[in-house]
Amino acid sequence: MAFPQRVKIVEVGPRDGLQNEKASVPTETKLAFIDQLADAGLSVIEATAFVSPKWVPQMADHSEVMRGLKRRPGIRYPALVPNMQGYEAAKATGVDEIAVFAAASEAFSQKNINCSIEESLARFTPVMAAAKQDGIAVRGYVSCVLGCPYQGDVSLADVVRVAKALYDMGCYEVSLGDTIGTGTPAKARAMITAVAGEVPIKQLAAHFHDTWGQALANLYAVLELGIATIDSSAAGLGGCPYAKGASGNVATEDVVYLLNGMGIETGVDLEKLAAAGRFINTHLGKTAASKAAVALAARNS
Ligand code: HMG
Ligand code: MG
Repeated sequence: MAFPQRVKIVEVGPRDGLQNEKASVPTETKLAFIDQLADAGLSVIEATAFVSPKWVPQMADHSEVMRGLKRRPGIRYPALVPNMQGYEAAKATGVDEIAVFAAASEAFSQKNINCSIEESLARFTPVMAAAKQDGIAVRGYVSCVLGCPYQGDVSLADVVRVAKALYDMGCYEVSLGDTIGTGTPAKARAMITAVAGEVPIKQLAAHFHDTWGQALANLYAVLELGIATIDSSAAGLGGCPYAKGASGNVATEDVVYLLNGMGIETGVDLEKLAAAGRFINTHLGKTAASKAAVALAARNS
C-alpha cells in the first residue's frame, strides 16, 4: 500500500482540546476559534460534546456552541453524544453529524462513561436508529487502542471487536484513539493492520495523542498502510479528563507540515491554522505545544 494522495483532517481542538483545559473558555471565544479553523480550510471541525456538565464542565455550553456556529457550506461540525439524552439535546440544536464513543478497555469505559463496553454499545443502538431516521451521520470512536491508563495493556482482539461493532452498527468512520499516547510505530501499524482486517481501511481514522512524543512517527507508520483520515488538535490542545497525564492530540500544525512535506494534500492553510492556534493559546494563557507553530512564529517574527 502506498501513501495516500490526500488526507482528511478531522480537527478536534474545540472538543478534545478544550474539554481538558483548566481555563474556562467563553462560548464566544470557542465560536471565534471554530470560525478561524474553518477559514484555515479544515473541512471537519468537532465542535463540542453533549455529555454531562457534571462530568465535563468545559462542554456545558454545548447547545450555545452548536446554535452559534456560523456554518459554512461544505464544512461539517460533528458533536460527541454518549446516549439518547445527549442525542436529543444535540438534535434540538440542528446538529448534522454526531460521534459516539466507546473504549477497548473495560476499566476506561467505566471511568469515562460510567458503564461497561457492552452497555455502551447497547446505549448506542437507539442513538444509531434515531440518527438514521433523522439523516444524521454517525462517527464512532474507540479509545485506548494502544494502552489504557487504568488496565495497562489492551488486547488487539478487544480493539478489533469494538471497532467492528461500531462499524457494523452503522458508523461511517471509526476513529482509533491512542488516548494516552503510549503507542510506538510498530504497535500502531499492528493495531491498524488488525482492525483493517475487519473494517475497510478507508473507513478508519488515526486519533493519536502525543503524550510520549510518538504521534507523528505513529502517523507516518500508518499513513504508509493507507490511513487517509487523521484527527488532530490545533496548537496540540487538550487531552482526556478521564486519562490523567494524557497530553493533547497531535498538533494539527505539525500534521499539516508533515503532510505538506510529503506532498500529501490537506486543503489546509498552515499560516491561517497557526493563527487560529495562537488565538486560542492567548485566551488560555498557554504557549504552543506545536513545534511547527513555534517554528513558524520564529520565522515570521
Ligand atoms: P451517568 O452519571 O452514568 O448518567 O453518566 P445517568 O444516565 O446515570 O444520569 C445521571 C445524571 O446525568 C442525570 O442527571 C442525567 O440527566 C444526566 P441528574 O438527574 O443527576 O441531574 N445525564 C446527562 N446530562 C447531560 N448530557 C447527557 C446526559 N446523560 C445523563 N448526555 C454519562 C453517564 C455518559 C452522561 C457521563 O459519564 C458523561 O457525561 N461522560 C462523558 C465523559 C467525557 O466526555 N469524556 C471525554 C470524551 S471521550 C475522549 O476524550 C476520548 C476520545 O477523544 C478518543 C480518544 O482520545 O481515545 C473520543
Ligand atoms: Mg482524544
